[in-house]
Amino acid sequence: MRLAVCPGSFDPITKGHLDIIKRASYLFDEVIVLVSVNANKTCVFSEQERVELIKDSITDLKNVKVDTFSGLLADYIKKVNACAIVKGLRAVSDFEYEFQQALANKALNGDAETVFLTTSAENMFLSSNLVRQLAGFGGDISHLVPDAVLDKINHKLMNH
Ligand code: PNS
Repeated sequence: MRLAVCPGSFDPITKGHLDIIKRASYLFDEVIVLVSVNANKTCVFSEQERVELIKDSITDLKNVKVDTFSGLLADYIKKVNACAIVKGLRAVSDFEYEFQQALANKALNGDAETVFLTTSAENMFLSSNLVRQLAGFGGDISHLVPDAVLDKINHKLMNH
């Protein structure tokens, strides 16, 4: 059984995330979407909200589960015996950070590979940060976040 992990902050999940999760679910037997809980990073959406938004977005993906973690990703990967960390790569600007993370994770756990999926063209400039900014000013985010969670995300960000 080939298990992959898609880690991230997901504050909140976007259509870009969902695209990567979907494509990972076709490549691997099982996928865990792993929500990072970091005491040093302030998120707009709570841990529970981020998990619920992801769950509501992946109801059609039967081999995908959601979990949370704090600490080192490499330790989690070892614990669940995953063979891959799947990340989406957008512009060149993502590359240096992701390359560093991949090398650090490889050094900590040589058994797991980081697999980069190139973002779909329409998600090239999409990020959770952009979604938060746009919705915070009342902008339209309907093309940026999964349809199933649009209302919940709008409600939270407009009242934030
Ligand atoms: O969506 P993000 O914020 O880009 O996700 C980053 C995340 C959570 C995947 C990354 O920061 C992470 O893996 N954090 C856990 C700490 C860790 O293991 N870092 C890599 C080795 S130093």
